[in-house]
Amino acid sequence: MTAAVKVDIARLSAELEELAGFTDSPAPSVTRILFTATDRAAREFFKQCCRETGLLIREDAVGNIFGRWVGSDPQASAVGTGSHTDAIPNSGRYDGTVGVFGGLEAIRALRAAGHQPRRSIELLMFTAEEPTRYGIGCLGSRLLSGTLSPAAATALRDGSGTSLDEARAECGFRGDLATVALPAGYYETFVELHIEQGPLLEKEGLAIGIVEAIAAPASMRVVFHGQGGHAGTVMMPDRRDALLGAAELALAVDRAARATGSPSTVGTVGVMQPFPGAINSIPSRCTIEIDVRDTALEPRDAAVEEILSGARAIAERRGLTVGIQMLNADPPATCGTAVVEAVARASAQLGIPSRRMVSRAYHDSLFMARVCPTGMIFIPCRDGVSHRPDEYSSPEEIRRGVEVLALTLAELSE
Ligand code: HGY
Ligand code: MN
Ligand code: MN
Repeated sequence: MTAAVKVDIARLSAELEELAGFTDSPAPSVTRILFTATDRAAREFFKQCCRETGLLIREDAVGNIFGRWVGSDPQASAVGTGSHTDAIPNSGRYDGTVGVFGGLEAIRALRAAGHQPRRSIELLMFTAEEPTRYGIGCLGSRLLSGTLSPAAATALRDGSGTSLDEARAECGFRGDLATVALPAGYYETFVELHIEQGPLLEKEGLAIGIVEAIAAPASMRVVFHGQGGHAGTVMMPDRRDALLGAAELALAVDRAARATGSPSTVGTVGVMQPFPGAINSIPSRCTIEIDVRDTALEPRDAAVEEILSGARAIAERRGLTVGIQMLNADPPATCGTAVVEAVARASAQLGIPSRRMVSRAYHDSLFMARVCPTGMIFIPCRDGVSHRPDEYSSPEEIRRGVEVLALTLAELSE
């Protein structure tokens, strides 16, 4: 099989180029938010490419898309692969998409090489891996893995108050969310190809990362309420400025992440929204969204606790009220040995230099690991940059990632 797998990187690069054109921000950036017109166009494009490849397509009630290559033993539990095509505002064109269209290309290369899988191979495009619209990441894989209940998903509202049910119905997804969770044994294994989104592989001159664990993400929304008023007439001693509470908390997030003693703890404030947002009006309300992670639970939870108690102390001291909403606090995932070793064997067979590593970003694999042995294949990205318009992986780096994925799928589907 090794010699026969030939990845058509020109075709794959053209597809990634066309996909990048479905964006709500100017090139080279990509913005593709759940169920917007650009997301829907990307979905249609993906399904068209799957149809042309002869895959059996289905979509579930939350819009996860499945393209199945039926194996010679159609009753056997399948091998899954895939990733996401949604993109956060002003980001790049390779995050997620390499795993979706690279998965399709791996299937095409295996077919051309005459591979006949015993286990069906199923390619997935997960709904909403990014948290942008509903504040929680991996919406589709959380529902697939039973990690998020249909009731909790139904309660989700976006910033304009549109519910998930309203948004998905507009796209034709009206089914009962209770039908999304996969039955036990649906997948035997799952493997996701993804850019590293970090600098390690490039720094060490390696082409493949064999992921052994995926970091533990937590996020929360904190709203401070104070007293608004006129910027010119409310004297400083009389102020209760909600934005200053949020600003102090942002600095507390940075301190807490640096103080856990674990070099892997990270804390980020990516969203801060004062209200009413006028230059001459003291903010009466300020919303701040916080992302905290570590590869281990204990330091992550210590940082979260420090931040939440900090929020309450800041509110007290500044005469504000504070509302705290935990959005998610997930355990880390350990990758399945069967998949990790299959990736290692594929890299070795191809003579591609690789290393074992952890993923500091979260992925749909974090939740697929709850339903079956799961692994990830990383490829380098330039300067480790991601979630930025200058995110970049070369055609050669992508080609080698798809080659390793193809051999891994060949082994797992035997
Ligand atoms: O934030 C993450 O780790 C992923 O890229 N959504
Ligand atoms: Mn991302
Ligand atoms: Mn991603």
